[in-house]
Amino acid sequence: MTKLIALQTDITSLKVDAIVNAANRTLLGGGGVDGAIHRAAGLRLLEACRALGGCETGEAKITPGFHLPTKWVIHTPGPVWRGGTHGEEKLLAACYTNSLKLAREKGAKTVAFPCISTGVYGYPRAQAAQTAFAAVRHFVGAHPNAFDIIYFVCFLPEDFTLYQKLTEDKTC
Ligand code: APR
Repeated sequence: MTKLIALQTDITSLKVDAIVNAANRTLLGGGGVDGAIHRAAGLRLLEACRALGGCETGEAKITPGFHLPTKWVIHTPGPVWRGGTHGEEKLLAACYTNSLKLAREKGAKTVAFPCISTGVYGYPRAQAAQTAFAAVRHFVGAHPNAFDIIYFVCFLPEDFTLYQKLTEDKTC
């Protein structure tokens, strides 16, 4: 069984097997959680990302965590919100699914997600939470023994409230 847990904390502080980075398509860092992860991981993360040659929206690529307490960082560019009629929901779900596919390949048993696309990229947080949670539950339902715990890491109280409701008494 996989536990789905909402946390309100800084994702760079988590000692888990993999954290997910809400990156941009260059994978060369930025602000928000991307900036926090690169600052905490150190320059070797940027070097490793340079070698990856970018990443399409909804796809995911993986690097070591370097100075972070996490073993792996999975970089996935979320969709920019453009009103919801440009395939944003499908692309956001793909960020979670493709990140979990990579985490499973590496044997990661604990994975932490930020609220992808809900900051700079403007995705409405309640809709993003529903899509994220549904995508994770679908993947875990199809691979029940892949993970022990998946964390939804919220930086903002409003996100934490949303994910607390979604994860209440739900293991799958
Ligand atoms: N830990 C956890 N969550 C965080 C942290 C942190 N240290 N810092 C920010 N967040 C949260 C934000 O509050 C937001 O809820 O991460 C969520 C995603 O926001 P952004 O980081 O702005 O990411 P996103 O909306 O996907 O935009 C990505 O922003 O930083 C750039 O390079 C990045 O161009 C890309 C774009």
